[in-house]
Order: sequence, then structure tokens, then C-alpha cells
Amino acid sequence: MADLRPVEVLIPADAIQRRVAELAAGIHRDFPDGVHLIAVLKGAFIFMADLVRSLEGKVSLDFIAVSSYAKGTTSSGEVRMLKDLDYALDGKDVVIVEDIVDTGITLSYLKEILKARNPRTLRTACLLSKPSRRQVEVPVEYIGFTVEDRFVVGYGLDYAEQYRNLPHIAVVGPA
Ligand code: IMP
Repeated sequence: MADLRPVEVLIPADAIQRRVAELAAGIHRDFPDGVHLIAVLKGAFIFMADLVRSLEGKVSLDFIAVSSYAKGTTSSGEVRMLKDLDYALDGKDVVIVEDIVDTGITLSYLKEILKARNPRTLRTACLLSKPSRRQVEVPVEYIGFTVEDRFVVGYGLDYAEQYRNLPHIAVVGPA
């Protein structure tokens, strides 16, 4: 695969900030008594950080790490747990915080294993969704932006571990 780098801003930083605040307001409306957020590392770490700071009310959080992608831009179709949660989910209102749903393989795996831990409710907030790439249908209650089938980086998302630090979402192309 050719070396890729960010070539075009797809979603500017201020648009992301506004949308994250809207998502937080929606989550608070649905769960006024508080939520337990689970960020999926590493891609969701910036989304999580902004989301919690926009959320009113009681918020607890945890992190889980899975790996589904090899080094390039295509999925291996295989999900591995790299870091499990620190806390139990019994009776909690849980929102999974994901960077992007692409094929849906990672999220459906996660939902299956988390559902088995008896949360009271289990919902998902994804900053980005690429519906045209879906291989597994998986409901997502809070979606930031729907994007086309292009590989994107920034705001936590990487290409070969680079570009997570960009404040906006950019499309990659040949260097
Ligand atoms: P899925 O299992 O195919 O839905 O892929 C989910 C994971 O793949 C995401 O959590 C991302 O880490 C990664 N991913 C999918 N599409 C992109 C992209 O366009 N840029 C960066 N990472 C991506």
C-alpha cells in the first residue's frame, strides 16, 4: 500500500465540537440520572474526553481496548480483546463510545460481550459512521456524522498510528 497522508479536511474542528455537544445533550436527555461511558481505545480517546466534558449530571467511565485492524486501512475481520474493563456493568446505563463504525464487526463483538455483563441499558455513541461499508448490521443510537467510504484520520483516528492528534477529521490520500 502506498504511503498515505491527510490531504483534505472533511470535518473541521469547530463542527466536531458543536456536534459532540449535541450528542452529549441527547445522552443527558435520555439518561438524566447519569451514565457509565466505555471508550474503545485507542481511537475514541479524544471523542471521550470532549464528550464527558460536555455531559451534565453523573458520569463514570471506563476503557476497553480491542484490535480489529492490521497496519493498513482494511479490516482483518478478526477482533481481539487487548484490555478488558476495570468495572462491572451490572444494572448500569452504559454507553459505548466509539470513534467510527465501518464494517460493524468490532461494535457487534463488543456489544455481545458487554450485554452478557448485565447492564440495565446498553447504547452506543459513534463519532462517525460509514454505512456503505457495513457487513454486520448493528444499531447505533448516537451518531456524530455519516461519512462516505473514504479512510479518515484525526480527532483520535489513525493511519499506522499517525495523525490522531489532528483537531479535525481529514481524508487520506497518496503522499
Ligand atoms: P469495524 O470493525 O470495521 O467497524 O471497524 C472499526 C474500527 O476500525 C474503528 O474503531 C477504527 O479504529 C477502525 N477504522 C475503520 N475505519 C477507519 C477510518 O476510516 N480511519 C481510521 N480508522 C478506521
